[in-house]
Amino acid sequence: MVWSYVNWRNRITTPIRAAIPPTTTVNTFFVQYIHIDTFAGCHFLDYHVYIHTEHTDMNNEPFIVGLDLGSSAIRLAVGQRVSVSEKESELQVVGAFEVPSAGISKGVISSIEDATAAVSSCLEKAERVLGAPLERAWVGISGLHILTEESRGVVAVGKPNGEITEEDVERAIEAARTVATPLNYEILHVIPKSFTVDGQSGVKDPVGMTGIRLEVDAQIIQGLSSQIKNLTKCVYRTGLDIEDLVLSILAATETITSSRQKELGVAVVDLGSSTTSYVVFEEGDLLTTGIIPIGSDHITSDIAIGLRTSIDVAERVKIEHGTALPKEINKKEEINLGDLGGENELVSRRYIAEIIQARVEEIFERIDRELKKIGRSAMLPSGIIFTGGGARLNGLVELAKEKLRLPASLGYPGGVSSLLDRGSDTSFATAVGLTVWGYEMSKDRAPKGRLSQFVSIRGLGKVSMGLKKLFKSLIP
Ligand SMILES: Nc1ncnc2c1ncn2[C@@H]1O[C@H](COP(=O)(O)OP(=O)(O)OP(=O)(O)O)[C@@H](O)[C@H]1O
Ligand SMILES: [Mg+2]
Repeated sequence: MVWSYVNWRNRITTPIRAAIPPTTTVNTFFVQYIHIDTFAGCHFLDYHVYIHTEHTDMNNEPFIVGLDLGSSAIRLAVGQRVSVSEKESELQVVGAFEVPSAGISKGVISSIEDATAAVSSCLEKAERVLGAPLERAWVGISGLHILTEESRGVVAVGKPNGEITEEDVERAIEAARTVATPLNYEILHVIPKSFTVDGQSGVKDPVGMTGIRLEVDAQIIQGLSSQIKNLTKCVYRTGLDIEDLVLSILAATETITSSRQKELGVAVVDLGSSTTSYVVFEEGDLLTTGIIPIGSDHITSDIAIGLRTSIDVAERVKIEHGTALPKEINKKEEINLGDLGGENELVSRRYIAEIIQARVEEIFERIDRELKKIGRSAMLPSGIIFTGGGARLNGLVELAKEKLRLPASLGYPGGVSSLLDRGSDTSFATAVGLTVWGYEMSKDRAPKGRLSQFVSIRGLGKVSMGLKKLFKSLIP
């Protein structure tokens, strides 16, 4: 039984009980302080509450933790397996926590000390609310240092009768791994795209087929060793063990797209604060992924320069009055910067929208250039899905439809049940996606059997094990 202290900021419509995680039973609570605040047009209730809780952890299932180290915020999502019927279970998000980021810029660690302190405070917040320690996490990795490369692995089928086994598939993928990795790079994922059995290409699952020669075409995703070491060092210093490092955009894609969308062809774009990551899937295969060094903070800087005001005021202008569609704003509409913490000055809202539009169009042009490289510009039936904090910009989706000539929508974390408002916020897509990834990986490990679609997307357990060994060697 523990006494916990919660400082919660909630929409005024959310009852206090919603701030208390479902894994705890509340015996008593008393509210020390309540404050009503208005931000971004919503009323928030800030309250400090002392709750007398008991950790119930009803199903005794371990927590599955996803940790996203963003340039603007550190986010942690906590999930747990819950049984929905005798045979079936699903993942439930039981906690979503956020603290402002420090020591991270453009998605990579710039100060281990500051980043460690920020991750620690997020972890403490989560543990205090959940009333239980968190021991290990699935950690997202991002940054401009990530490289993707195509590779091919070829092996002779092992069994004398020519029946292809999982072991043959693992050997083929291992062979694909031996691609010449640039000096100082480590492989993060080996993602098999398709197999070729005795010259017959386009095989999705070769296990059980008969042949002599098995080939695999795979995407190899690698990261700079020094960046990987900095990230792992930072997480280990907080006392968290790392289950695995997962490319952030791949994790986010898990929770915001369906396998049907990935089959038909879809692009996912994570608009972060200083970077924009993208990934394209078709026929269930990863076609391309990459990171562009422009994010939503660039829009804020443009507004600050355009209006000759501070970054803080510009950020409020963007969030509270910004839109990517100047056409829809009346020419005469004006806002007073004095209302947003700046000096009293009236500025045209259409002018602000034009500044925003210019930068958003630049991001779209960069994405379209990448789509052109793989011949998918305006050619993805399931369209483009935006996620990340920057995706919340008004008018973004409409402008994307027009400029990218694709169906466009916002991607909220899905495929999990969530008891929290925040679990379904676009900013939490990566953290929630990491818990989904962890959940699916633990499902795959449990039953023996065939190479499932999920494993074939992620690469095999063995691949992850290699990295785990690397992590252990890095523990300070
Ligand atoms: N309602 C909103 N309208 C417009 N922009 C928003 C809104 N809410 C948040 N943003 C912007 O989203 C960005 C933060 O996004 P996010 O939290 O996904 O970034 P991050 O993950 O910390 O960064 P990165 O992925 O680049 O490391 C900030 O630039 C912020 O201004
Ligand atoms: Mg991010």
